[in-house]
Amino acid sequence: MPGLRVMLVVGARPQFIKCAPVIREILSNHSQIDLDIVHTGQHYDSRMSEIFFSELEIPLPLANLKVGSGSHAAQTAVMMRRLEPLMLRTKPDIVAVPGDTNTTLAASLTASKICLPVAHIEAGLRSHDMAMPEEINRRLTDHCSRLLFAPTRTAVVNLRKEGLARATRLTGDTMVDAISQAMPIVQQEETIVLERLALEPENYVLVTLHRPSNVDNLSRLSRIHNSLCKVARKTRVIFLVHPRTRVRLAEIRAIGATGNDEVLFASPQGYIETLCLLKNASCLLTDSGGMQKESFLLHVPCVTLRSTTEWPETLERKANRLIFEPEIAHRALLQASSDHTLRERIKSLKSPFGDGHASERIARMLEESF
Ligand code: UD1
Repeated sequence: MPGLRVMLVVGARPQFIKCAPVIREILSNHSQIDLDIVHTGQHYDSRMSEIFFSELEIPLPLANLKVGSGSHAAQTAVMMRRLEPLMLRTKPDIVAVPGDTNTTLAASLTASKICLPVAHIEAGLRSHDMAMPEEINRRLTDHCSRLLFAPTRTAVVNLRKEGLARATRLTGDTMVDAISQAMPIVQQEETIVLERLALEPENYVLVTLHRPSNVDNLSRLSRIHNSLCKVARKTRVIFLVHPRTRVRLAEIRAIGATGNDEVLFASPQGYIETLCLLKNASCLLTDSGGMQKESFLLHVPCVTLRSTTEWPETLERKANRLIFEPEIAHRALLQASSDHTLRERIKSLKSPFGDGHASERIARMLEESF
């Protein structure tokens, strides 16, 4: 019997993480599935891409489309032009797309326009903020998908409200699978990772910021940097700097500045190193979707420097605070990093993100549905 041919299209850092457990499950337990991994090349720096393939043991992709950077329209259009002939040539039975990046949208649009069924992993998230490119990407992808793998009950409700109940399956979140699979290595490595950066457990604030709304407006970025310097007078601050953020921080001359209130800037880290740093932080400041959830799963209080989130579950459980003004975030960070009862409280909460077996469900449902 011919196997089921699945093309999985990835391109940006969070997608490698979300898909790694699904890939592992398919390769170990679903020999009927022929899996073709395609990398669009949206992320191309080795610390944004290759490092994840080697750490997470993701097999080399069938193709790397090397689209690189560009405006949203240009990047998405180049991806579509390069994906279409590949899909026509390899004729997958189904195209699977994770998350909400330009890669997700390009692959789902290309596939659906040549009548290939699409399966969306991490469907149904909504920030209700159409100024975010990711909100556009995820809504459009959900509406042209045949199968919607929802990570949470909230996501199921969102999809139902948009008339998509029939395609929806509650699977849990594959990032829970990824974290639980990585945890034995994290426990082995964490001391070394912290020592390398001269950090002590629960004695520093971890920062990651890359959204255009925070880093592309230089006066806002300066306010954020000033607030972080104030935090750094009281506790250590380590900032893992995304490539676009590095360019902007250099423009405001933040990187390279020295003094007592110095923020420690570090390159983007691999998955294991990032989990080690997050697990031991007293608090996280971020604008990433995935890290809001990872901090919940590792019981670390989170401040999200945005006015909306696609993960309301973390707010409802008071593990995450949504704060837009950097000066207010500064006070919240100091408060959270000195309140050691918060971690225990978050630990006692039941996780709404699933049981760590989402990838098994996704692989099984892919096989059964087609
Ligand atoms: C993308 C996703 C975002 C995700 C993030 C994770 C979209 C719309 N956004 O945002 O949802 O949270 O990835 O990191 O798809 N750059 C490099 N090297 C790289 C990648 C990017 O230097 O390997 C620089 C380039 O200047 C590029 C800029 O970063 O123009 C933005 O990269 P892009 O992939 O367009 O979006 P991200 O901000 O990374």
